[in-house]
Amino acid sequence: KATYRSTRSTREVLEILLNGLQRLEYRGYDSAGICIDNPVDSETPILIREVGNVGALRTKVYATNNLPLDATHDNIVGIAHTRWATHGEPCERNAHPHSSNKLEFSVVHNGIMTNYVEVKKFLQEQSYTFTSDTDTEVIAVLAEYLKSQRPDVSFTQLTMEVMEMIGGAYALVLKSNKYYPGELIACKRGSPMIVGWRQLRHVDVVGVQDAERSPRGVELLTDFFISSDSSALAEHTSKVVYMDDDDVVHFHNGTASFYNKQRNEDFQKLRAEARELNQLEIAVESLSKGPYAHFMLKEIYEQSESVMNSMRGRLNFQTKSVMLGGLSEENVYTINSSRRILFISCGTSLNACLAVRPTFDELLNLPIAMENASDFLDRQPHVFRDDVCVFVSQSGETADTLRALEYCQKKGATLVGFTNTVGSSISRLTHFGSHLNCGVEVGVASTKAFTSQIVVMMLAVLRLSDDSRRLAPRRHEIMDALSRLSADVAECLRMVAPKVKALAQRLLDAKSVLVLGRGYQFASCLEAALKIKELTYVHTEGINSGELKHGPLALIDENIPVIIFCTKDAHIDRARSAIQQVRARKGKPIAIISERDEEVEAAADDIIQVPQTVDCLQALINIIPMQMLAYELAVLRGNNVDCPRNLAKSVTTQ
Ligand code: F6R
Repeated sequence: KATYRSTRSTREVLEILLNGLQRLEYRGYDSAGICIDNPVDSETPILIREVGNVGALRTKVYATNNLPLDATHDNIVGIAHTRWATHGEPCERNAHPHSSNKLEFSVVHNGIMTNYVEVKKFLQEQSYTFTSDTDTEVIAVLAEYLKSQRPDVSFTQLTMEVMEMIGGAYALVLKSNKYYPGELIACKRGSPMIVGWRQLRHVDVVGVQDAERSPRGVELLTDFFISSDSSALAEHTSKVVYMDDDDVVHFHNGTASFYNKQRNEDFQKLRAEARELNQLEIAVESLSKGPYAHFMLKEIYEQSESVMNSMRGRLNFQTKSVMLGGLSEENVYTINSSRRILFISCGTSLNACLAVRPTFDELLNLPIAMENASDFLDRQPHVFRDDVCVFVSQSGETADTLRALEYCQKKGATLVGFTNTVGSSISRLTHFGSHLNCGVEVGVASTKAFTSQIVVMMLAVLRLSDDSRRLAPRRHEIMDALSRLSADVAECLRMVAPKVKALAQRLLDAKSVLVLGRGYQFASCLEAALKIKELTYVHTEGINSGELKHGPLALIDENIPVIIFCTKDAHIDRARSAIQQVRARKGKPIAIISERDEEVEAAADDIIQVPQTVDCLQALINIIPMQMLAYELAVLRGNNVDCPRNLAKSVTTQ
């Protein structure tokens, strides 16, 4: 607990908020808004919202007449939001911040209020009116209603009453110029929220009473920052607290006081609690594009380094041993003596699980299952106490994956996490696991996280199997390939770039694309198809080529581009057979090869060659030309590469 003050101009706070939103834009970019104290009218905050991205909001803010930009304010408070629409179309009136009727309360919200229809109906019966279609506006109006019922309630007590009445997952920030000027509240359940602060030494502060100065006339100023994602805080501070579920933090007069609703059942007698301080470790440079046109391109090219960073300090190439902090002797024993391993995740992360599955099958004596987190919850399958459930997630915040984790937690299973985000919900809620260490991934389409997920899970399975003498030659073969992986990725990037650019030109008008492969390459098909469809908006399907004759062959004609993975492994004969089947139906196959192959080259219309690595890591190399193809096609089609339409990077709603 610290009590200091902050004095800032409107312009400074606007810039902090707009820059913070820019960092979070990958989370949603349908519309954005800002609500900030007005130094010349303390009861009425400045509220500006705009459809589109943060750039559009910035333009609107600075085009607004008579903003008191240079006026300063003690304890100035601002909140801002960039939206990914869940309830209500993207338009200005549905953009956050949302307010109660006369701007008494303003709210920004991540998550979904599940009971908003009933609460809205109740409030309408009390004569409150609404201007948006969102669940968030209901929260602001609910706060106003509850305040009218008990005018003497403190902001923290009021927030706990609000939390009592809202269902679902949320991270909320509330301010009220009318009732609680200079105060701010943040609270959360199920959605992430981080509090950071920075103290500045400020000499000769004008207008501060003598009693508040230190003996040398130096005053400490404190800025507090609250965000759903640490990337918005990194440029301001490295001192953070990760909020727990049901936490409420109250900011007032330069003080941050933490409470937990569960441990404060009597809202009349609240007890503040201490919180663990954490050090944020994000390199600020990783948040900029550098010389690249897009974050996605930067992240594709970073992969030769990021796969290395995922192995650093973990794989000793000389002694051929793997050390993963999260996989202690005891944890290795827990996994190896379990009933089975269930991989549970979504999208690209699930594809990474699929890519390592054959190696888990091969090196461990355990049944391995793959589960799509959202489908898993729909089915509510059996999970046992002696199951190991592995949650893989770049963000560590994907709502479907988190809800599946909570389900498995209730069943008493061992929970293991592989995430890229230190302090994320998944890394905190699992019993043990490892971080990907591939650096912040900003492009909405996941690239370097996918390759690092494969690397880290490979390290995990090598560690889990390290007591087997029988498997030593195979394990050493994989480790040797890992030691060359960074160079192979760099070589791949160099080899494929010009070919992929030319191929993108030829595929520009395709209405549909198929990607075929089998065995180790089935995961590559799904991931390649996901990358192409999300960036180009062109229907693309990843198909196990073993399934061709069971239906998909009907799709083949001279118009549909068919990409086929024909890299060298035990299934190469079957890959050759798939390419012949496509050719025989007048298809025009594009083959990805790792070694010269006469038969494949004769049957294919186009060839892209990549470096050869060990079979179980080949998917990691093979995806690189596909990431590039998706990128090049998106650029040619004029699409927003880093923020494809309708998507968000961290899907924190179900
Ligand atoms: C696709 C993509 C998504 C995510 C999925 C899970 O490029 O990024 O499919 O992989 O939403 O996200 P995380 O890994 O954060 O759990």
